[in-house]
Amino acid sequence: MSETTQAHVEDAGAERRGGAAPSNRGRVVRALAWLCLWLLLATTSTALHMFTWVWATPQAVLGQDSPAMKKAAGLAVLPTVPGWLIVTRLNGGLDGRSMWFAFAASAVGWMPWVGGVWCVLQVRRAVLKRGSIRRSADGASASSDVKSTATSPSPGGVDLSRRRLLVDGAGFSVGALGAGTLSGSVLVAPWSVGVRQFVVEIEGLAPEHEDLVIAFISDTHFGPRVPAEQIVAAASIAARMRPDIYVLGGDYIHNGPTYAEGAAALLEPVISSGNCVAVLGNHDNYFGATEAVVKALTKHGAVVLRNQTVYVDRTLRIRTDAPPTGEAALALTGMADLWTEASDARGALRGVDERTPRVIISHNPDLAEHADFVRGTSDQPKLRADLMLSGHTHGGQVRLPLIGQPIVPSDYGQKYVSGLAISPGGFPVITSNGVGVSILPLRFNVPAEVLKIRLKRKRSG
Ligand SMILES: [Fe+2]
Repeated sequence: MSETTQAHVEDAGAERRGGAAPSNRGRVVRALAWLCLWLLLATTSTALHMFTWVWATPQAVLGQDSPAMKKAAGLAVLPTVPGWLIVTRLNGGLDGRSMWFAFAASAVGWMPWVGGVWCVLQVRRAVLKRGSIRRSADGASASSDVKSTATSPSPGGVDLSRRRLLVDGAGFSVGALGAGTLSGSVLVAPWSVGVRQFVVEIEGLAPEHEDLVIAFISDTHFGPRVPAEQIVAAASIAARMRPDIYVLGGDYIHNGPTYAEGAAALLEPVISSGNCVAVLGNHDNYFGATEAVVKALTKHGAVVLRNQTVYVDRTLRIRTDAPPTGEAALALTGMADLWTEASDARGALRGVDERTPRVIISHNPDLAEHADFVRGTSDQPKLRADLMLSGHTHGGQVRLPLIGQPIVPSDYGQKYVSGLAISPGGFPVITSNGVGVSILPLRFNVPAEVLKIRLKRKRSG
């Protein structure tokens, strides 16, 4: 046997022995390294969560806010969402302010990721080992034919290098693509605010209200995930539209009453116009925050509507009483939240002249399917609605090619997830993607937005 071939065979045998039978000490060191990695990830996620949910000042607005920390916390917490769900279930409830709860959720959440990476590395090792054994077998058979192998590169060696390149290249590409997409969806995509425009024709709209422009902001979710600067940007975009009316669609806060004042203050440039109406969303009613949100919005100048109607008069100002008969009037009817309050459309529209066109503002677009708007009841006619403005769905936040939005908080699937839909009652429903993020701190193919809606008179014929 030539020296080249002999060395080749010995090398393959050594690699096989080293890969397949590590010493006990090696096994312990490896296990400890994996344990440390798992604990490090869980601890980092816990620290970022505690900083944004507990230690940071919840009332903080511009100048005191920590956008970088909030975004980093979103990235660290996202992979652990299943852990949060599991621990919440086991605990009988969510306790986001407890460090031990957060650590348990993070530890459980990171477990499948660390385990998954370990499994991938085991598969890689097995694939490379197969190549190594084949190379060894090639080398052994080559020893019986020294001439043919001693003068050319080992086919097994070339195969092993190529296999390692392919396996590592594929693994690295998939990992980098996944990590890049996830990071971009958490750190970049949610934090730019766009504008989407709609033109809606309304029957019976007064000539004075032709081309009336509504700026619609929804789901700002000021809290541990959404930085103040995001809401300031949305308010600034809305103000630059120079609309006639501002409409706020609810979910101003994400995590309790301590954020209420900051949430309203950040929208102050919009609210202080004096021509701003607002409804509440489900998050405004969680953790006993309702009254704090109403108080803060009202203090800054918004008209908060809870199953109530106000009017836009001929001077395009909002007023609480109906303009005199014969004068231009557009009703703005704000509904209580469908999930967390008692929506009462019939009560909200009581006293509104049937000839008066009306815009319904409902945080949750599913209200468009309510019987009052679809067919009425045996003793009550169907309610007139000319347009409904909604939020709540956030556009699903994630839209996958060919699949659409896999998660939509609506009983009607994709129907009202984003943009324009026609209700069974025949009126248009426009649903905003919103400004902030909710439970999942990411966006993918669903940009944050402020809506600009222009009203036109519907021409007969
Ligand atoms: Fe929301």
